[in-house]
Amino acid sequence: MNEISPESRPDDRQDHALRPSRLKDLIGQEQVKENLAILIEASKHRREPLDHVLFYGPPGLGKTTLAHVLANEMGVSIKITAGPAIERSGDLAAILTNLKGGDILFIDEIHRLGRAVEEVLYPAMEDFALDIVIGKGPAARSIRLKLPHFTVIGATTRLALVTAPLRARFGAVYRLDYYDQAAMKEIVQRGAALIGIQADTDGIAEIALRARGTPRVGLRLLRRVRDYAQVRSEGQISAKEAREALDLLNVDPLGLDDVDRRVLITIIQKYNGGPVGLSTIAASISEEPDTIMDVVEPYLLQLGFLDRTPQGRVATRLAYEHLNLPFKENNEQQLKLI
Ligand SMILES: Nc1ncnc2c1ncn2[C@@H]1O[C@H](COP(=O)(O)OP(=O)(O)O)[C@@H](O)[C@H]1O
Ligand SMILES: [Mg+2]
Repeated sequence: MNEISPESRPDDRQDHALRPSRLKDLIGQEQVKENLAILIEASKHRREPLDHVLFYGPPGLGKTTLAHVLANEMGVSIKITAGPAIERSGDLAAILTNLKGGDILFIDEIHRLGRAVEEVLYPAMEDFALDIVIGKGPAARSIRLKLPHFTVIGATTRLALVTAPLRARFGAVYRLDYYDQAAMKEIVQRGAALIGIQADTDGIAEIALRARGTPRVGLRLLRRVRDYAQVRSEGQISAKEAREALDLLNVDPLGLDDVDRRVLITIIQKYNGGPVGLSTIAASISEEPDTIMDVVEPYLLQLGFLDRTPQGRVATRLAYEHLNLPFKENNEQQLKLI
């Protein structure tokens, strides 16, 4: 993927230093923060571990950050793993038996847990128990081990792929939304200050504008604009440098990149505006369906450039206008019929 992909990449490791560690340092997501503050205070008051928490939303919006913040606020350790990393139920059992009371187990991409592993997780989350089968065949018997009271924090980009029984075991489920411009400006500003980048207000605003409401993208664009400014203007970032650098990266003023535009142009030119299925679009432009579903589609939906219908995706008039393509009347009628 390219610069703007909100999926994590190796050079984002620098972001870890930028990660807010306390609730009060988190910018935006006011409602989620308020809910979490209550959750934290209530469990502290009862002297109990946190209830299991599930975060969902597109990549780069702060799910992992929030898991760390919760651990810091509760003063507990956090063990980090991910759905695809836990291959067998024995792997999960090993992780669970190493947890201490109050610990947080962060499971990223929790929708990718295998079924057998999930089966082990249910009683662990619900009854803090681990059922182990000893022996084979008719002699096999199951013993139940007690686990300390711990907290699972799950994160997923695809809530729909989290099975109902797993979802039911989370006491709190929060959706992360794209950040508004004010919050994005603050996040880019804070990043610039922490990294030591000289950027004026307009420069920051230009980067925030094109960061598709996603902190990870904002911070990454900031680094790319810094590179550009270092080479072209002795490191100073104003609106001019930001605009030139971002144009060079093919990130348009709404934060759309090549992949976003190719998706829209494919729907419009190849499929007459739609409806067309997402996997068909992915195949036409040789992109991963997952990328389109997690990254491209949610942002285009948010902009109102795409409509989701039972027959497939449809490009809206706004999308045509943004791409300067003529919007035909019959497209409009088509939309109304759906
Ligand atoms: N609310 C926030 N305020 C400030 N920075 C944030 C916020 N949310 C995320 N970030 C920054 O964005 C980066 C990506 O966030 P991350 O938690 O890794 O996203 P996700 O896990 O949802 O993909 C983090 O490294 C952090 O620096
Ligand atoms: Mg993450």
